[in-house]
Amino acid sequence: MQATIKKLLRDKNAILLAHNYQPPEIQDVADLCGDSLELSIKAAQTDADIIVFCGVHFMAETASILSPHKTVLLPRLDAGCLMADMIEPEALQAMLDKLPPMPVVTYVNSTAAVKALSTICCTSANVVDVVNSLDETEMLLAPDRNLAMYAASQTNKKIHVWDGYCPTHEWLKPADVAKAKAEHPDAVFMAHPECRPEILEIADVIRSTSGMLRYAREAEARAFIVGTEIGLLYPLQQQNPEKEFYPASTKMTCKNMKKISLEDIIRSLENMEGEVKVPADIRRKAIQAVQRMVDLSISK
Ligand code: 13P
Ligand code: SF4
Repeated sequence: MQATIKKLLRDKNAILLAHNYQPPEIQDVADLCGDSLELSIKAAQTDADIIVFCGVHFMAETASILSPHKTVLLPRLDAGCLMADMIEPEALQAMLDKLPPMPVVTYVNSTAAVKALSTICCTSANVVDVVNSLDETEMLLAPDRNLAMYAASQTNKKIHVWDGYCPTHEWLKPADVAKAKAEHPDAVFMAHPECRPEILEIADVIRSTSGMLRYAREAEARAFIVGTEIGLLYPLQQQNPEKEFYPASTKMTCKNMKKISLEDIIRSLENMEGEVKVPADIRRKAIQAVQRMVDLSISK
């Protein structure tokens, strides 16, 4: 099936992008695996005609916003994001109406309609840079409350918080980390900024998924406890066969990130099924926030 996918990609001038949480067989066949920021940058820069996105719906939407003339396929249209579902544009507008005028920093884990109301987007890899890039000292960061509190702790800005979260990361409790640390006392504990503040307080390093991959490659440590969705254990172990990786909790799995199969990719490419296209009026407004983030990251 992987050979069939490779041939279809070549014949159709398509590129397959996969998030670091995707199942091993999909990461193995992808042209690029990455975190949300790397995948957005690639989606903005590729000269392929078709982008097959193996991730969740908001990622395919972001690719469609950045590359409106390309066909973006999400092989399972029901692969959503529970955090992105925790904010609607109408509710965001209602909150903004109650606050004094201020910029809105939107985590890319949100719908295009929410991005359309935003000043700039961010990912877990660049949130501190994005917040610091704004002249204003007060802003709203939505929808991830944990990411917003993390950004507030790393900057001098006053950050208003939307009460959303990622259930996969919210699962992780200090007792899970204590247990993993007791079992692996020499291991470095890496946590994703979507984790609760009490987890980030006890983390040795806080990184996006690709940030964790880089850190594990470069660190002298031999063992790591991984505080993010367990799909990341596969590329960590592949890239560092001589090092050891342990999940902070085996409960940290995102069902939506596991929906796409190799069969789905073949069907999607053969029949051009699962197209994600952001309507032009929403795209026109959303592109400013997404492009501003991409430009900031490329210029760094
Ligand atoms: P990153 O890969 O950007 O760290 O994102 C994590 C995530 O939850 C994506 O859904
Ligand atoms: Fe959304 Fe969390 Fe799943 Fe990422 S891991 S897609 S933030 S629910």
